[in-house]
Amino acid sequence: MSEMIRLEVYRFDPESGDKPYMQPFEVPVTKPGMKLLDALNHIKWELDGTLTYRRSCGEGACGSDGLNINGVNGLACITPIAGLRQPIAVRPLPGMPVIRDLVVDMEHFFDQYRQVQPWLKRYTPMPEHEILQSPEQRTRIDGSYECILCACCTTSCPSWWWNGDRFLGPAALLHANRWIEDSRDEAMGERLGQLEDAFRLYRCHQIMNCMESCPKELNPTAAINNIKRKILARKS
Ligand code: SF4
Ligand code: FES
Repeated sequence: MSEMIRLEVYRFDPESGDKPYMQPFEVPVTKPGMKLLDALNHIKWELDGTLTYRRSCGEGACGSDGLNINGVNGLACITPIAGLRQPIAVRPLPGMPVIRDLVVDMEHFFDQYRQVQPWLKRYTPMPEHEILQSPEQRTRIDGSYECILCACCTTSCPSWWWNGDRFLGPAALLHANRWIEDSRDEAMGERLGQLEDAFRLYRCHQIMNCMESCPKELNPTAAINNIKRKILARKS
């Protein structure tokens, strides 16, 4: 008989009128190296087809299956079952409105991403061919372009829980820093001016949950500190 694993999964059906609750499930270990997403798929395909969650790539690239797993944010598709305390508590990402079961409304998160204007801004005429970068200039966007916008960092941040209407949060600020550091972009002053605000940027209190929860091992706190340094430097 297969080894069984125990889970408790957050359930919420807005049409039922019932309060959210944790539903216990037992699923078999179906393969070596089984991931949490495999267990959720087993529940959906074999036990309860109404369980609702997002997923797409299954390999840590699309960022759609960010969840709170035993109290820590992470991607279900790359989180091994082995080593997780049981019953494994699976909840939606914290601090966001729940649409159904494990699916949260990401609109505010993406709106904050849009607020940092995450695209190349140029005011001088574009060259005929590509805009050249030295290898050293290119390395300055390492550690930020890899972000997959899973929201694990932002939704693990107490400052964002408390002031998420005005504090942009770690993911948006990591992307702001990505464009500030990009040698091809010509809007650094404008970008820093937009961020220099008691809430938008300075609500980061170095709690560092963002770094702990990032499945891509990125460091939004360092990116935020870099923006603060750049703001200070242009004043001196
Ligand atoms: Fe996800 Fe990491 Fe990007 Fe935050 S910085 S959105 S945790 S990939
Ligand atoms: Fe794409 Fe997990 S399903 S990151």
